[in-house]
Amino acid sequence: MTSWKLRTRSATASPSNARTQTKRRKIQEQDEFQCVEGEFPSPRVQSALMLHAIRQPYELSTDHEVPVVQHNHELLLKVNAVGLNPIDWKGPDYNFGIPTFPFISGREMVGTVIEAAKARNSRIHKGDIVIVPSTDYRDFRKAVFQQYSIASTFNTIRLPQNTPVNSGSILGVAFVSAVLALGICMGVSFGSIESGPDLLDIVRNIDPETLPSDIRQECLKGVEESERAKAGDWVIIWGGSSTCAHVTKQLARLAGLRIISVADSAKHGLRLSSTSEIRPDLLVDSHNPERAVEIIKAATSDGARFGFDTQGKETAGYLLRSLHSFNSPMSALADSSVKGPRHKESKLPTPPATPLENISRAPRSHLVGLTGLPKTDIPEGVSLHSVPIKLFHEIPEVGEALCAWCERLLVKGLLVPPDVVGIVDGLEGINGGLDRMRRREVRGGRLVAVLP
Ligand SMILES: NC(=O)c1ccc[n+]([C@@H]2O[C@H](COP(=O)([O-])OP(=O)(O)OC[C@H]3O[C@@H](n4cnc5c(N)ncnc54)[C@H](OP(=O)(O)O)[C@@H]3O)[C@@H](O)[C@H]2O)c1
Repeated sequence: MTSWKLRTRSATASPSNARTQTKRRKIQEQDEFQCVEGEFPSPRVQSALMLHAIRQPYELSTDHEVPVVQHNHELLLKVNAVGLNPIDWKGPDYNFGIPTFPFISGREMVGTVIEAAKARNSRIHKGDIVIVPSTDYRDFRKAVFQQYSIASTFNTIRLPQNTPVNSGSILGVAFVSAVLALGICMGVSFGSIESGPDLLDIVRNIDPETLPSDIRQECLKGVEESERAKAGDWVIIWGGSSTCAHVTKQLARLAGLRIISVADSAKHGLRLSSTSEIRPDLLVDSHNPERAVEIIKAATSDGARFGFDTQGKETAGYLLRSLHSFNSPMSALADSSVKGPRHKESKLPTPPATPLENISRAPRSHLVGLTGLPKTDIPEGVSLHSVPIKLFHEIPEVGEALCAWCERLLVKGLLVPPDVVGIVDGLEGINGGLDRMRRREVRGGRLVAVLP
């Protein structure tokens, strides 16, 4: 029989020496996060949702083995609430991201730590209630469509007192996607925001061999130092109503970027323009994409160099045309200074053109696609990016920096989770929830499966 009760901690100890002060600081910090205390059973078998073949519903197994901790940095968690993601239905429908059958899905949750990590000095302790973005889909122990799940400490975010469990369960994937898109693909440094990470600095100062080979180029060369997005730059978010856009807009705003959000105004206009934390500088209706491109170009006459698409290849194509490129009219002037005089018929004497190698290259634009990128008609001077999501679980320095920063943002109220737009009951309710997502009935937030 389990007896869990909210842990209350007193911070009344007198700071008579440095050690007491450190201890007191730790107690105060702990008081900002949710935890429970008691004895935690860890049964041998559990319920899990299994996918046995593509285009099939998940099936409930009641005698699946509880996953086992394999490394000192791993925790065992009891799953409390699961956020449902598009990939949970797209994976089975399109046979995407499923390494083997039977497969266990589920990419984010809030859970209770029932077995702490063996590694010392971890932020995370037994009894802590934590958010886990489970990006490591190849390791089924870490999937969250099951009652118990494994997570690495550096992929675990303590849930602050001010954040409800269900809201925490839908924040993680969007947060990781947003930070990596802005921080790696666009080069935003979050150093001045609650001591956030400068991700380019982190990945460019570790042994390059430790970076997974398929994302090494993106990490090391994706954006040049001189091209990094900084306060005042425009970022255009196409698919501005999505959960990932919800978090990206907040982080971009904290970094001082100017935001254009392209979304279906009939469906989302009022919510997006009246919710202070996600209100863009300019909301553009997506109904007529050609017109949307014109509006964006007119609004960003100084040139927008950063784009984030959350919808797909086609919208990413429109976004591409909205960005500043070396072929666009506004760069013609700059080109003439690079290539020398254009009008051969001019009689005016001109000095010889400066050799190209002596002129620093103009900064490129950067387009990040969450779910597809254009393959043709890529203008000169625009670089295309996919989010290197595996950095989060494969590089502990990156995972830890993201998770510790997320805790600080939540505690300070600088990051507001997306809206919970519906609840389903337990693992048994997940197939029904995913069917609603397939039918496009879920918008403006996420569904949550609440487990007993
Ligand atoms: N590459 C990565 O690492 C990565 C990471 C995270 C997400 N993703 C992908 O990025 C995309 C956005 O993710 P998200 O979690 O932000 O999305 P989301 O919030 O779940 O949904 C975004 C929007 O998609 C539309 N939508 C919903 N159901 C749909 C359906 N059945 N068919 C067509 N459109 C539908 C809705 O727009 P309306 O309300 O206008 O209908 C919804 O607001 C997804 O495709 C996701 O799989 C990729």
